[in-house]
Amino acid sequence: MSTEAAAEQTATNNEVILPEMYTRIDAIIEKYKDKPGSLIPVLQQAQEVCGYLPHLVQRYIAKGMNMSPSVVFGVATFYSYFTLVPRGKHVIRVCLGTACYVKRSEEIIEKIKAELDLEVGEITRDKKYSLEAVRCLGACGLAPVVVIGQDTYGDVAATKVMDIIKKYD
Ligand code: FES
Repeated sequence: MSTEAAAEQTATNNEVILPEMYTRIDAIIEKYKDKPGSLIPVLQQAQEVCGYLPHLVQRYIAKGMNMSPSVVFGVATFYSYFTLVPRGKHVIRVCLGTACYVKRSEEIIEKIKAELDLEVGEITRDKKYSLEAVRCLGACGLAPVVVIGQDTYGDVAATKVMDIIKKYD
Protein backbone atom coordinates (compact mmCIF):
# COMPACT_ATOMS: atom_id res chain seq x y z
CA MET A 1 0.00 0.00 0.00
CA SER A 2 1.32 3.45 -0.81
CA THR A 3 1.87 5.86 2.05
CA GLU A 4 -0.86 8.06 0.55
CA ALA A 5 -3.33 5.16 0.57
CA ALA A 6 -2.33 4.28 4.14
CA ALA A 7 -2.92 7.88 5.20
CA GLU A 8 -6.32 7.90 3.52
CA GLN A 9 -7.33 4.59 5.00
CA THR A 10 -6.48 5.46 8.59
CA ALA A 11 -8.03 8.92 8.40
CA THR A 12 -11.39 7.33 9.06
CA ASN A 13 -10.48 6.59 12.71
CA ASN A 14 -12.68 8.22 15.34
CA GLU A 15 -10.44 11.20 15.84
CA VAL A 16 -11.86 14.12 17.76
CA ILE A 17 -10.07 17.39 17.18
CA LEU A 18 -11.43 20.36 19.07
CA PRO A 19 -11.95 23.68 17.26
CA GLU A 20 -9.42 25.41 19.52
CA MET A 21 -6.84 22.83 18.48
CA TYR A 22 -7.37 23.79 14.84
CA THR A 23 -7.05 27.46 15.80
CA ARG A 24 -3.68 26.79 17.40
CA ILE A 25 -2.54 24.65 14.48
CA ASP A 26 -3.57 27.45 12.08
CA ALA A 27 -1.25 29.77 13.98
CA ILE A 28 1.61 27.25 13.77
CA ILE A 29 1.10 26.79 10.01
CA GLU A 30 0.93 30.53 9.50
CA LYS A 31 4.21 30.99 11.33
CA TYR A 32 6.10 28.36 9.33
CA LYS A 33 4.43 27.93 5.98
CA ASP A 34 6.86 30.11 4.01
CA LYS A 35 9.96 28.71 5.70
CA PRO A 36 11.62 25.86 3.79
CA GLY A 37 12.23 22.66 5.76
CA SER A 38 9.81 23.61 8.50
CA LEU A 39 7.57 20.53 8.43
CA ILE A 40 9.25 18.90 11.45
CA PRO A 41 8.77 21.88 13.82
CA VAL A 42 5.18 22.19 12.59
CA LEU A 43 4.53 18.53 13.38
CA GLN A 44 6.30 18.81 16.74
CA GLN A 45 4.15 21.75 17.77
CA ALA A 46 0.96 20.17 16.44
CA GLN A 47 1.76 17.08 18.50
CA GLU A 48 2.10 19.29 21.58
CA VAL A 49 -1.36 20.71 20.83
CA CYS A 50 -3.12 17.36 20.29
CA GLY A 51 -0.95 15.01 22.36
CA TYR A 52 -0.33 13.00 19.18
CA LEU A 53 -0.64 13.43 15.43
CA PRO A 54 -4.12 12.39 14.31
CA HIS A 55 -4.39 11.61 10.61
CA LEU A 56 -6.92 14.37 10.15
CA VAL A 57 -4.39 16.83 11.55
CA GLN A 58 -1.67 15.49 9.27
CA ARG A 59 -3.91 16.12 6.29
CA TYR A 60 -4.86 19.54 7.59
CA ILE A 61 -1.17 20.43 7.92
CA ALA A 62 -0.43 19.08 4.44
CA LYS A 63 -3.10 21.34 2.98
CA GLY A 64 -1.93 24.34 4.99
CA MET A 65 1.71 23.79 4.07
CA ASN A 66 0.80 23.06 0.46
CA MET A 67 2.34 19.61 0.60
CA SER A 68 1.29 16.11 -0.34
CA PRO A 69 -0.36 14.22 2.56
CA SER A 70 1.97 11.32 1.81
CA VAL A 71 5.02 13.51 2.52
CA VAL A 72 3.58 14.55 5.89
CA PHE A 73 2.59 10.96 6.68
CA GLY A 74 6.07 9.77 5.69
CA VAL A 75 7.79 12.22 8.05
CA ALA A 76 5.32 11.53 10.88
CA THR A 77 5.95 7.80 10.66
CA PHE A 78 9.73 8.01 10.08
CA TYR A 79 10.66 9.73 13.33
CA SER A 80 9.98 7.81 16.53
CA TYR A 81 9.41 11.13 18.31
CA PHE A 82 6.06 11.37 16.59
CA THR A 83 3.13 9.25 17.63
CA LEU A 84 0.08 8.59 15.49
CA VAL A 85 -1.96 7.21 18.36
CA PRO A 86 -2.90 8.87 21.65
CA ARG A 87 -0.52 8.20 24.51
CA GLY A 88 -1.47 7.59 28.12
CA LYS A 89 -0.58 9.88 30.98
CA HIS A 90 2.28 7.46 31.67
CA VAL A 91 4.07 5.83 28.76
CA ILE A 92 5.53 2.42 29.61
CA ARG A 93 8.35 1.33 27.33
CA VAL A 94 9.63 -2.20 27.55
CA CYS A 95 12.88 -3.01 25.78
CA LEU A 96 12.88 -5.96 23.43
CA GLY A 97 16.46 -5.43 22.29
CA THR A 98 18.72 -8.48 22.34
CA ALA A 99 20.20 -8.01 25.84
CA CYS A 100 16.76 -7.48 27.35
CA TYR A 101 15.10 -10.16 25.27
CA VAL A 102 17.48 -12.86 26.48
CA LYS A 103 16.65 -11.77 30.01
CA ARG A 104 12.97 -12.42 29.30
CA SER A 105 11.64 -8.93 28.71
CA GLU A 106 8.86 -10.50 26.65
CA GLU A 107 7.45 -11.94 29.89
CA ILE A 108 7.32 -8.39 31.25
CA ILE A 109 5.30 -7.28 28.25
CA GLU A 110 2.91 -10.22 28.60
CA LYS A 111 2.41 -9.46 32.28
CA ILE A 112 1.61 -5.79 31.60
CA LYS A 113 -0.72 -6.69 28.75
CA ALA A 114 -2.65 -9.08 30.98
CA GLU A 115 -2.78 -6.79 34.02
CA LEU A 116 -3.69 -3.59 32.19
CA ASP A 117 -5.81 -5.27 29.53
CA LEU A 118 -4.14 -3.64 26.55
CA GLU A 119 -1.92 -4.54 23.63
CA VAL A 120 1.39 -3.01 22.65
CA GLY A 121 0.70 0.35 21.02
CA GLU A 122 -2.54 0.81 22.93
CA ILE A 123 -3.73 3.00 25.74
CA THR A 124 -5.75 1.88 28.78
CA ARG A 125 -9.43 2.86 28.87
CA ASP A 126 -8.79 5.36 31.65
CA LYS A 127 -6.00 6.87 29.49
CA LYS A 128 -3.58 6.43 32.36
CA TYR A 129 -1.07 4.14 30.66
CA SER A 130 0.13 3.29 27.20
CA LEU A 131 2.46 0.44 26.35
CA GLU A 132 5.27 0.48 23.81
CA ALA A 133 7.86 -2.11 22.87
CA VAL A 134 11.20 -0.59 21.91
CA ARG A 135 14.51 -1.80 20.52
CA CYS A 136 17.43 -1.11 22.89
CA LEU A 137 17.16 1.82 25.23
CA GLY A 138 20.93 2.09 25.45
CA ALA A 139 21.10 0.66 28.97
CA CYS A 140 21.85 -2.96 28.14
CA GLY A 141 23.90 -3.43 31.33
CA LEU A 142 20.65 -3.01 33.26
CA ALA A 143 18.71 -5.57 31.21
CA PRO A 144 15.85 -6.18 31.24
CA VAL A 145 14.90 -2.51 31.12
CA VAL A 146 11.57 -0.76 31.50
CA VAL A 147 11.15 3.00 31.18
CA ILE A 148 8.10 4.75 32.57
CA GLY A 149 7.90 8.36 31.53
CA GLN A 150 11.42 9.67 32.23
CA ASP A 151 12.30 6.99 34.80
CA THR A 152 14.45 3.99 33.93
CA TYR A 153 14.18 0.69 35.78
CA GLY A 154 16.74 -2.06 35.38
CA ASP A 155 16.80 -5.75 36.25
CA VAL A 156 13.00 -5.76 36.20
CA ALA A 157 11.23 -9.04 36.92
CA ALA A 158 7.87 -9.77 35.32
CA THR A 159 6.54 -10.62 38.76
CA LYS A 160 7.51 -7.20 40.10
CA VAL A 161 6.72 -4.91 37.19
CA MET A 162 3.18 -4.10 38.33
CA ASP A 163 4.52 -2.94 41.70
CA ILE A 164 6.56 -0.37 39.80
CA ILE A 165 3.73 0.65 37.48
CA LYS A 166 1.29 1.12 40.35
CA LYS A 167 3.51 3.87 41.74
CA TYR A 168 2.39 5.96 38.76
CA ASP A 169 -1.14 7.10 39.26
S1 FES B 1 18.79 -4.27 24.70
FE1 FES B 1 17.53 -3.41 26.22
S2 FES B 1 18.62 -1.64 26.80
FE2 FES B 1 19.80 -2.47 25.20
